Amino acid sequence: MEIHFEVNGKACQVETPPMKRLLDVLREDLHLTGTKEGCGEGECGSCSVILNGEVVNACLVPACQVEASTIITVEGLADGGRLSVVQQAFLEHGGAQCGICTPGMLLAATAFLEENAAPEREQIKAAIAGNLCRCTGYMKIIDAIAAAASGRLEPQK
Ligand code: FES
Ligand code: FES
Repeated sequence: MEIHFEVNGKACQVETPPMKRLLDVLREDLHLTGTKEGCGEGECGSCSVILNGEVVNACLVPACQVEASTIITVEGLADGGRLSVVQQAFLEHGGAQCGICTPGMLLAATAFLEENAAPEREQIKAAIAGNLCRCTGYMKIIDAIAAAASGRLEPQK
């Protein structure tokens, strides 16, 4: 089937089997390889994207469900080559190590901070509870999100 949707502000059209995973459509058809596969079963959050304003696991979403949707992937966070505040915070606070979880974490944090600009630390923990990280022990990621929320960081010049 042919699907039409918007990814990172750009209209896209893809010919795809209806049950092909959104994760694979993004990576294979649109070459947006920033979205990572971890478990492939909806457990790790590595494949998180923002779909119509909600964070979803792209490994669980079939292509046929995204007709006329708006999707943001990690490639859509930087603006004109300038990192977003959340990306800059991860960079400055060591929020990425191997990087597998990082795109999903960035998107979960970005969507969360749009809803709650001044979160408590416990709220940040709850917001990323669906995103697993094997490397950082979460403290650096939580520090980064807290720094982004506090406005202590400016976007990269
Ligand atoms: S790869 Fe999708 S949740 Fe793990
Ligand atoms: S940085 Fe490696 S899984 Fe999170």
